[in-house]
Amino acid sequence: MQNIYDNKKFFEEYKSMREKNVNANNLIENPIFKSLLPNLKDKKVLDLGCGYGNLCKFCEEDGARKIVGIDISKNMIEMAKKTNSSSKIFYFNKPMEKLDEIKEKFDFVLSSLAFHYVENFSKLINNIKNLLSPDGYLIFSQEHPLVTAFTSPAKKNIDCKIDIEGKRYYLLSDYNNIGKRNIHWYINGVIKYHRNFSTIINTLIENGFTIEKIIESYADEDILKIEPKYKYQNDRPYFLFIKAKLK
Ligand SMILES: C[S@@+](CC[C@H](N)C(=O)[O-])C[C@H]1O[C@@H](n2cnc3c(N)ncnc32)[C@H](O)[C@@H]1O
Repeated sequence: MQNIYDNKKFFEEYKSMREKNVNANNLIENPIFKSLLPNLKDKKVLDLGCGYGNLCKFCEEDGARKIVGIDISKNMIEMAKKTNSSSKIFYFNKPMEKLDEIKEKFDFVLSSLAFHYVENFSKLINNIKNLLSPDGYLIFSQEHPLVTAFTSPAKKNIDCKIDIEGKRYYLLSDYNNIGKRNIHWYINGVIKYHRNFSTIINTLIENGFTIEKIIESYADEDILKIEPKYKYQNDRPYFLFIKAKLK
């Protein structure tokens, strides 16, 4: 398991991206993720790969009775404790691979943009199932499989071609080659795991989940007024969101 968010250069770059108001997390990912959440009053929530704890704080403000946030990165947990603390939120520096160490049940397991760092998806989903109360929900986002398929370790902008009219066409290969990717994101050697769409959905089904909603991120008019470059999401969505209920 890689802990890239504790790499000094990576963390500094990531932090400065998140400090800008205009970024894909604030403009695209967070609003769609929140649209999938029902009212959380009196619910117990577990947030996997909680990062700065923004989502934990949102759950607390929405009335959740207890929120546990875990993250593999000490840097991220430190930031979460500093910026999003509350008597109802409990942060732990723990990888998702060790979910079997958690001995309580939750109404909601949430995870925002972290599952593509986990190698064994089937084990992860099975562990989540064991942590959910009956009728519990798993709601997560991850990089879209059309994005994670990319295999080149070189800089990102070789993943498309521009035609003579300036239109961008994305390249796609290795879509059905599931597994490890070693890519460049701020630094070389960032490890992510690609799974095609059917693997993601079938793993959820095999573990007893019913899919209630799937969203692929899109460019909406209001977002394009703020950041026109997000129009490329209409060619290739950045993020995949799944809301699944334990049967
Ligand atoms: C893109 S950030 C998202 C953070 C936060 N969920 C958000 O949306 O703001 C991915 C987070 O996943 C964490 N992460 C990566 N691999 C992990 C693992 N195996 N177990 C737990 N956390 C992990 C990283 O440390 C990082 O904080």
